[in-house]
Amino acid sequence: MLRMTSIDLNKSKIETLAIVVCEDKDIHDDPLIKAVIARALKLKEFSGKKDETVTLYGLPNIKAQRLVLWGLGKFEKTDREGLRSMAGKTVKHCIHNQLTSLYFAVPNASMLKMEMSTVLEAMQEGACLGNHIFHKFKGEKKRALRQIHFRVTKQVSQKMRQLASRVAAICEGTTMARDWVSMPSNEKTPEKLTRSIVGLARKQRLKIQVFNEAQLKQKRLDALLAVAAGSQSKPSLVLLAHRAPGAKKTLALIGKGVTFDSGGLNIKTGASISDMKSDMSGAAAVAATLITAAKLKTKLNIIGAIPIVENMPSGRATRPGDIIRSYAGKTVEIGNTDAEGRLILIDAISYVIKRYKPQVLIDLATLTGACVVALGDKIAGVFSNDDDLAADIIASGEKTHERCWQLPLPEDYKELLKSDFADMNNIGNTRAGGAITAALFLSAFVTDTRWAHIDIAGPAYLKKESAYCGPGGTGFGVRLLSAMIRKYADR
Ligand code: BES
Ligand code: MN
Ligand code: ZN
Repeated sequence: MLRMTSIDLNKSKIETLAIVVCEDKDIHDDPLIKAVIARALKLKEFSGKKDETVTLYGLPNIKAQRLVLWGLGKFEKTDREGLRSMAGKTVKHCIHNQLTSLYFAVPNASMLKMEMSTVLEAMQEGACLGNHIFHKFKGEKKRALRQIHFRVTKQVSQKMRQLASRVAAICEGTTMARDWVSMPSNEKTPEKLTRSIVGLARKQRLKIQVFNEAQLKQKRLDALLAVAAGSQSKPSLVLLAHRAPGAKKTLALIGKGVTFDSGGLNIKTGASISDMKSDMSGAAAVAATLITAAKLKTKLNIIGAIPIVENMPSGRATRPGDIIRSYAGKTVEIGNTDAEGRLILIDAISYVIKRYKPQVLIDLATLTGACVVALGDKIAGVFSNDDDLAADIIASGEKTHERCWQLPLPEDYKELLKSDFADMNNIGNTRAGGAITAALFLSAFVTDTRWAHIDIAGPAYLKKESAYCGPGGTGFGVRLLSAMIRKYADR
């Protein structure tokens, strides 16, 4: 869907040409484009301020039917995310106007004081992600753009082809995760979600293993089973493996897959229950990342472990006060059935460490409302037993604008998770520090593996659309994990 091109603007008949403009600095070198910008700046309604836009029709010397100029604002403030957002909004603008194809006049990278690959990557990401629409259940469907072109010089076009196909693959992974998250829970019961993930994983030839309820019982993943007990739907643990011949290291990714979190017998009330279809966002991100890594033939062994359950109240549901034995052997008193994510995660974590002995393990989970209280709904919390690993995650997130902030794992707070009757309680005995106690609960099952936990309860889901995402799942984590994988594979 992303194409590199170096077409001649006074010869090629195209539908739409988009030109980005800084309000206080020239960032294009093509004389034709410069002339268009000069002409537009003479109009009162356009000066290149952030998100200002104007459409020009029928210009001499340029065969494009229309030129859409888009303001980036001040040069000093123009960064990757500014380019990404601009590209996303431009694509949405075209979709809104029922256009079918779009050309971006890519600015001159050195005039922008950036690397060409950085400029292109950002614009392509914004464009590709902005082109995604979740309209599965709508009668009247909007039409995504069929192709999005990036006009650069001939040499750049040659050099950057590979980049465009990598960006497209990673963005497809992101939109795959978005679709899973936005899907309503009646259409993604644990059985259905399991099948959907397996179907897409098979296409990329990932090694797949699915444990069904009977196998989970036989293997005694009782913490996972305890969460699933109240639901009519059967749980599963999906294991995806990407093997790179010759690679020595293994990265394990674990994603929380609660297809609906009602809270269980500690049922959620009021608005808190309303977006709980998104409680499998970690699972979606991990599955999509594995699928993307396989597509890109990544030189790193990667395991994806995805526990999938539905958390429901019923006559068979696990009760507050019940005590279960986790896969690792530690007993857990269920202080609150709504703290279910950590229960499925500990069994997945213990199983993965025992079986695969990964060098690094990262889990992604919409784990706590407390994390949203702490960091708002755009920033994820990172917890790690290894500050270098946390720093790598935060740096990758800076690159992709999936922002992460490290929170502490204070040893003495483990007190809060004590139980009178079992080895641990699944909730802290105070609401204070809820994101931290959840992470500490997980840490008790990690043993000596390099581990990080990313709490994505905030940024996994959007109520209102943003520059390059519609309302619904954001696909948070797929680009970030793909960047991490790239870093680790290169080493
Ligand atoms: N899935 C929720 C966390 C969540 C909240 C995700 C808001 C997205 C948005 C999780 O399972 C949960 O219910 N956590 C409880 C924990 C509490 C019972 C200790 C919470 O945050 O209230
Ligand atoms: Mn819950
Ligand atoms: Zn949950």
